[in-house]
Amino acid sequence: MVGAGHTRFGVLADGPRALLRAAVDAAFASVDRGLDRRSVDAVFFASLGFGGWQIGNAAALAAEEAGAPGARALHVENACASGGFAIHAAVEAIASGGTEVALVVGLEKMNDVTNARRRYWLGVSGDTEWERPAGLTFAGVYGLIASRYLALHRVGPEALAEVAVKNHANGALNPNAHFQKPVDRAAVLGATRVADPLGLFDCCPVSDGAAALLLTSPAAAHRYTDAPVFVDGIGAASEVLAVQEREEPTRFGATRRAGEAALRAARVDRGEISFLELHDCFTIAELLALEDLGFCEPGAAGPLTLTGATRRDGRLPVNPDGGLKAKGHPIGATGVSQAYEVFLQLRGAAGARQVANPTRALTHNVGGAGATAAVTIFSAGGP
Ligand code: COA
Repeated sequence: MVGAGHTRFGVLADGPRALLRAAVDAAFASVDRGLDRRSVDAVFFASLGFGGWQIGNAAALAAEEAGAPGARALHVENACASGGFAIHAAVEAIASGGTEVALVVGLEKMNDVTNARRRYWLGVSGDTEWERPAGLTFAGVYGLIASRYLALHRVGPEALAEVAVKNHANGALNPNAHFQKPVDRAAVLGATRVADPLGLFDCCPVSDGAAALLLTSPAAAHRYTDAPVFVDGIGAASEVLAVQEREEPTRFGATRRAGEAALRAARVDRGEISFLELHDCFTIAELLALEDLGFCEPGAAGPLTLTGATRRDGRLPVNPDGGLKAKGHPIGATGVSQAYEVFLQLRGAAGARQVANPTRALTHNVGGAGATAAVTIFSAGGP
């Protein structure tokens, strides 16, 4: 990775094309020795196409808006995991030898549609045979998973609340975050219920935004910067789409398989990873990810979180940018945004939210209620 750009996430007045251009412009501007847009061989565009804008051939439009109209262009749609999978497609394209410079751009504009249409567009990424006709939203599905988790492991709602408190505290230090104000545990526990046991502060918001990355082959990277960030390992997997058809809804098989594959490819142990960017679309999802990725045993993520270990200054910082919970969750942009945070953190450029001396990071991006997952391991020095 030699460049990365990001718009503010939130309820934004700009349209999708303007957001895409802003993130891409920022990515090019971040390349230390500059990078000519004509050098881009391939564009990987991550988006659900929320609301229905440019459903077909969206990647061509993305390449055009990015100033690379002749480049090979591919639209990657894996719901909320689109960004993570677009990064994987770019890494594989580069590793195959056929691509030297790739642009990955993630985008979603979610706030310019009515509530009913919003529910429709989110709903089409879950099981449409049983879950959606039954009236289940993603908050509803994760609420059921959270209920089972709390009962199974005899954990109280304070563990979920601590995830929200931590991520809001981190978001308060991120000028690109949708929410930049801290909340305390009492406010989280006392908030309006959305899908019990999940309240308002247990949910990610509905955000607009875009993020972009410039990836090159490791050999070419030093042409553009003395401080590239390397991709050491990637892993991705899928899982039965409908949650009710899974053996155990509190374990996400796709995350487990993707995590194992990424760690194997990077040849690193969990203890060598400095911080994590986890897919916390709902607070329960951050706890599940810690367990499925093997950073603790099933049922132990709540107690671990309550010790403060996952705070920005803790033993294993999680979501120093505020996570989906506070930074926001513009579907297609999210996985790309996680890598943007890694780019800043591993170069010591994350400002007030900088983690102390990080050398390696893991990003984890989930589609819907665990149906797809992409895990990527990055380092400052390479494998
Ligand atoms: N966390 C904290 N505050 C939130 C919030 C969230 N997730 N969502 C909205 N708010 C705040 C708003 O900023 C607003 O504050 P204000 O009154 O101070 O301006 C207030 O709550 C009401 O906002 P509104 O947009 O009317 O909320 P809502 O009730 O329509 O929506 C949710 C709240 C939680 C239902 C909505 O954010 C949601 O659906 N989130 C999940 C999105 C999703 O499923 N994504 C895919 C994940 S897999």
